[in-house]
Parts: sequence; C-alpha cells; structure tokens
Amino acid sequence: MASGGAPQPLISRKSGPLRGSALGPGDKSISHRALILGGLAVGESRIEGLLEGEDVLRTADAMRAFGADIERLGAGSWRVRGVGVGALAEPEDVIDFGNSGTGVRLVMGLAATHPVSATFTGDASLRRRPMARVLDPLSLFGAQSMGRSGGRLPLTMRGSRAPMPVEYETPMASAQVKSAVLLAGLNTPGDTVVIERESTRDHSERMLRAFGAAISTEVTPEGKWMIRLCGQPELTPQSVTVARDPSSAAFPTAAAVLVEGSELLLPAIGANPTRFGFYETLREMGASVDIENHREEGGEPVVDVRARFSALKGIETPPERAPSMIDEYPILAVVAAFAEGTSIFHGVSELRVKETDRIAATAKGLAACGVSVEEKPDTLIVHGAGPQGVPGGGTVAAELDHRIAMSFAMLGLAAQNPVTIDDGAPIATSFPGFTELMRGLGADLAMETVDGSK
Ligand code: S3P
Repeated sequence: MASGGAPQPLISRKSGPLRGSALGPGDKSISHRALILGGLAVGESRIEGLLEGEDVLRTADAMRAFGADIERLGAGSWRVRGVGVGALAEPEDVIDFGNSGTGVRLVMGLAATHPVSATFTGDASLRRRPMARVLDPLSLFGAQSMGRSGGRLPLTMRGSRAPMPVEYETPMASAQVKSAVLLAGLNTPGDTVVIERESTRDHSERMLRAFGAAISTEVTPEGKWMIRLCGQPELTPQSVTVARDPSSAAFPTAAAVLVEGSELLLPAIGANPTRFGFYETLREMGASVDIENHREEGGEPVVDVRARFSALKGIETPPERAPSMIDEYPILAVVAAFAEGTSIFHGVSELRVKETDRIAATAKGLAACGVSVEEKPDTLIVHGAGPQGVPGGGTVAAELDHRIAMSFAMLGLAAQNPVTIDDGAPIATSFPGFTELMRGLGADLAMETVDGSK
C-alpha cells in the first residue's frame, strides 16, 4: 500500500544495457476522467487500457459511492454504467482518495453542483495539499464546504441545489482546477467558462466532447485560453481506449538515455501536445529519442518512442513549458545530473504543492547522490556531472511520492554506487508492476523489506 503500510525500500544498482520493449501503464489523467464521465453517462461505457493504479481505483470507488455501477472485466478492461448528469447519489460514508489529488479535486467538482453532501479525505500527503484552489471557484457555483485550515482534507462539501454558471480565470496553471470547474459546470444551467493564461492538459475537454457535451476552446485577443461548456448535456456512453501514460514512460525513456549501451522501444505512448514537453526537452539536450508512428487513439494522439543511450548537454527551460511536463521535472532533474553543464528549470513553483514539495525532495535526493544542485522558490538548477559521472550512494526519501521514488530508482541504474529509496510502495499509485517491468529490461532494481530480505 502507498499509505499506511510498512515502507518497502528499493535498491537501484548500476546496470548493464537496457534492451527491449516497455509496455507501460495506461494514462492516469485519462483513466480518472474515463471513470468519471462513464459514471455520469446514462448507459454502458467500456474502457480498455485503464490504469489499475491505486489512485485510479480510488476514483472508481468514489464514483461507485455516488451511484455508478463499475465492474472490472479483465486486465485494464472495465464496464461503467452511469447515473446521468444531475443524478449523483449521496455517498453513505467518507470517501478516501488515498494519494490522489486529481481524483479528489475532480470529484469535488462534480459534487459541487449536485444536491448531496459528501466528506472527502486522503493519506498524509493528500491531507497536506491545498484544496482552496478548487473550493474557491466551486463556492461561486453555490457549493459550501467545511474543512481543516487552508481548506485541507478531511472536508465536507454540500453541493449547490441551484447552481449558478461561473466564469473563472484560474490563478495558477492547473488542469485539476480547470477540470473541477468544468465538471461542476456539467450540472449547471447555462455556460460555464474557464480562462487559462497558459494552456494545461486538455484531456477533460477532449473527453467531454467525445461523450457529447458542447464544449469549445478559443484563444482570446490577449492570448488566453477560453474554454466554454454548455451545461446540463445528456452524456452518451462511449468506448474509451486509454493511451499509455507519457509521464510513466518518462522513467524507462530516461533510463535508456542514461544507461550505457541501452535501447528501448516504448509503444503507444500518449503524445498530447499539452503533455509532451519532457520528450522535446530530452531531444534538445541531445538525447537520441525518436518519435515514430504518429496516430490517433480514442481522440488522443499516440506515438511510439525509441530511446537510446546518449551524451547529454545541460539545458535551460522556460516557464511556459512547465505545464506540458509538470510531472516530469524530478526525472528531468535526474537526467540533467548526468549531462555536461548546468540545467536551469524556470517556472516550477507548482511542484511545491504536488504529492510532496518536489523541488525540495528532488534537490535533497540529488545532493544525497553527490550532485550539485540549487533550489530557488520558482527555479531548480542542476549542475550536471558530465563524463565524470554521478557518484550515487545515497539514501533518498520518497516522501509518499511515486515520482520521486521512480526518478531516483532511475538515477541508481547509471550512478557509480547503489542508491536506496526509503520507500518504493507509493509507486503503485501510478505504475503498478514498475520494478518487474524495469527488471525485465535489464535493470538491477530490488524491493527489499526493512530487515533486508528480498
Ligand atoms: C493532473 C494535473 C496536474 C498533474 C497531475 C494530474 C490532471 O496537476 O500534476 O499529476 O490529471 O489533471 P495540476 O493540475 O495541479 O497541475
């Protein structure tokens, strides 16, 4: 378990060449949304390739608590019978979202405009994360909520009986906030409008359109993104094929680039432009990362990625690129540690409110592995070791954060000395089978129990 269970240390050692084809898990963002919209559409939706990670399973449980009938038919294959927009049932018990910020924020959006009360909680990481960023716009629809200070979980929300349409400009680049407002707009008469200064992942918009909602995006004369949803649509059930998650595939891709002699193929990776900044940045650093076989599946662009061991140079990335690779900075910082020269990542303050403060956790982990790193409120600077090599040898605190755990597991595969991650259990939130998959490609990764047995 990612939360509550005994810690499972993970040891990563220098590995021989990684070879083969890595079939990573389904996209986490798309999986949450498929369950949520399937849970609202009257009739039977089918989902193939669903990520069966803990975060997504929590969303399935939550949608069941609101009345949807959700059944697993086989590996990644799910059937959802929805209740209809406006017909959510009142959950009988507290809804525990575990580690999942996306799950809780999106479902709170739904609940905000249904006449039900619901209480939400999560693990120690989720209970620390700010919820005011969604509660503030949801209160404009008429929802009321009572939580801990700063709107933190646990909190109880009473959805509005007579929701008012809202026009809301998000104060930070956040697809979760945008999506919570759009989902609240579903059961609201009239048009709900969200304005973004920078465009964030648009899976909600794509999937709402696919389920039959009238939704449009236009760029305003000031260069902002304006998304308009017409409320109270009748959603029609769909068959959704979930692309493989580019954020999860970032870990084996990085490993292929860092471990001498490696070449990996990553088939059928989601290549939505709002998610693909990591791959573009790797290529700009000199990595041999080929993007092949462009196609479309389930309304999302999909590609095959071929990554090979490469000599890398440091890079400076602008703040505008941050939303398209917001979850990839920890692994990008690990890649930068092996590059020649300094890398500077600008505009990354949102990382401070992820599963942990990812700027601090990445900086601490890199320092523990002998990498010179500087941390600013909104910037991360990594001084790459280049041909001298990364010493490794440290113990890294995962801080209940799957992406911190996986990033440093990848660092250990190419560092001079083994790296210990204090707890690899959170990896199951987004990438079940990660250790086995990486070992199958040639990685020397071992989960060990606290007494040292494997
Ligand atoms: C997500 C949005 C991002 C991302 C998270 C998934 C989503 O969060 O970090 O892993 O599915 O909408 P923010 O919207 O808070 O940036």
